Amino acid sequence: MQSGKRNRRSDPAGARAAAEEVGQMAVITGKDERLLVGGEWVEASSESRFDVTNPATGEVVGSMPDAGPEDVEAAIDAAAAALDGWKSLPAIERARVLRRSADVIRERKDEIAAVMTAEQGKPLAEAAGEVEYAASFLEWFGGEAERVYGQVVPAVNPQNRVLVLRQPVGVVAAITPWNFPAAMMTRKFGPAMAAGCTSVVKPASATPLTAALVLRAIEDAGAPPGVVNLVTSRSSGMVAETIFGDRRVRKISFTGSTEVGKELIRLSAGQVKRLSLELGGHAPYLIFDDADLEEAVDGLIASKFRNAGQTCVCANRIYVQSGVHDAVVRLLGEKVARMVVGPGDRPGVAIGPLIDERGVDKADQHVQDAIRRGAHLVTGGGRLDDGEYARGSFYAPTVLDGVTPDMLISTEETFGPVAGVSRFETEEEAIRLANDSVYGLCAYFHTRDYARLLRVAEQLEYGIVGANTGIISAANVPFGGVKESGYGREGGAVGVDEYLDVKYVLVAGVGTP
Ligand code: SIN
Repeated sequence: MQSGKRNRRSDPAGARAAAEEVGQMAVITGKDERLLVGGEWVEASSESRFDVTNPATGEVVGSMPDAGPEDVEAAIDAAAAALDGWKSLPAIERARVLRRSADVIRERKDEIAAVMTAEQGKPLAEAAGEVEYAASFLEWFGGEAERVYGQVVPAVNPQNRVLVLRQPVGVVAAITPWNFPAAMMTRKFGPAMAAGCTSVVKPASATPLTAALVLRAIEDAGAPPGVVNLVTSRSSGMVAETIFGDRRVRKISFTGSTEVGKELIRLSAGQVKRLSLELGGHAPYLIFDDADLEEAVDGLIASKFRNAGQTCVCANRIYVQSGVHDAVVRLLGEKVARMVVGPGDRPGVAIGPLIDERGVDKADQHVQDAIRRGAHLVTGGGRLDDGEYARGSFYAPTVLDGVTPDMLISTEETFGPVAGVSRFETEEEAIRLANDSVYGLCAYFHTRDYARLLRVAEQLEYGIVGANTGIISAANVPFGGVKESGYGREGGAVGVDEYLDVKYVLVAGVGTP
C-alpha cells in the first residue's frame, strides 16, 4: 500500500545505512509491541510482524504483529467474555477506570507523544496536544458513564407502567485512522466503556505503536482484561470481514475515508450492524469583508495546516469576499512562507512530513492541476526532497489563489498543506459555494456582523460550524457530519448514545396507587 521512500527502508539496518549515506546516525526511537487479547500481550498466531516507519526519515521505529482472522476472533472472544462483568459493574466503577485512564495517559504524555511523532510525523507539540485530547475523551466519558439514565413514561392505561432502558449494545469494534492515532481511539472505546460495552480496536497499520501505548495506560489504570483489546494487521480488509461476519460484534465505529465508509455500510447490511461513521470532509472556510483579518487568517492557518493538512476538518476550500481578498491572500502567503518544515521532533517545526509518498503525490497532483487550470501560486508549491528532506515525505506549505470549481482541489480532499483561495461577492453566493459539496463535516466562517453570524451558521449544511475560529475539536461537543461525511456523533453528551440500545418495557396490570 505504501510506496516509494517509506518502503525502501523497511529494516533497521537499511535505515541506519540510509542515514549514514547522508551523514547522519539514525536513531531508532520506537519499539516492538504486541496484540492485546484478554489482558495478555501476545504475538499473532502466525508469528509474523510488520515494520512501522518514521515518515520523516524512513527509519524503522518499531514493529507490530500482523494478525490473521484467528487473532481477530480471539480478540472478539475476549471482548465477549468480558462483557457481562463489565456491563454489570456499577457505573461509578466504570467511571473511575475511565478517569484513572485519563490520568495515566497524561502522566505518560511525553512518552506517548514521542512515539506518535516518530510513527506519524506530526510536530511534538501537536502530538502532546493530541495526547491531552485523547485523555480528555476518557475524562469526559467518565462523567457521562454516571449519567446513562432511563425514563419512566406515563402510560396510557393507568394500570400499566412504561420504562425506557438504555443498555450497552454489546461488543464494539473501533477502526481508527493514522492522522490522530491516540484521540480517535479514546473517542470510540471511551464512550463504549462508559456505556458498559467491550471493544476490539484496530488502529491504522501506519500508527499502531501509539495505540499500544494508549492501551497499556488503560490496562495500568485498572481496566479489566478483555474490556479493550488490540489487533493490528496489514490487512484491513481481512479484519473488517472478520468483524462484520461475527454476530457477537454489534456495533462498529469507523473514522476514515468516505470510500471505505461506503464499503463498511455495504458490509454492515449482512447482519444489520450498527455503525458510526466519521468520514471525509471538504471544509469551506469563508472570510467576509467585515471579518477581523488577523484573526481570520490565524484561524484559517490553524485549521488548514494542523497536522500538515491531514485532518478531516481541515479547510479545503477558502472563499474570501472581494473587499478583503487581496489583503487576506497577502497575509496568508506571508505567514505560510514562514512556516518551518521538518521532522516533528525538531524544535520550531510547524509542518512535519506527510504520512507517506502517496500523500505527497496527492498534494502535488492538486497543486499542479490547479496551476495548469489557471491558479496563481502565492508560496510553496512543490515536494521537498533535497538534503535533510530526502528520506522523508515532505511537501512545502502552499498557498494558491484564483482557485475555480473545475480544479481537483475544489472537490477532492487534499489531505496536505495546500490552501486554495477563491473570491466571492455576496453572502448568498458564499453560502451556495460552501454547500456545493457531497461532504458535510465541517465549515468555518469569519464575520463581525452578529446577524450574519446566525444567518450563515444556520444555512451551512454541515455537522460542525466554526464561527470566528478555525479550531472546533473538543471532547464535550458532538463531532460528526452529514451527507457523505457520515453519521453518528462522537463526543458530547450524545457520544455515549452511539453505544446504547434503547429498550422499552411495558409492565401491565400494576394497578393504580
Ligand atoms: C479527524 O480529522 O478525523 C478528526 C479531527 C479532530 O478530532 O479534530
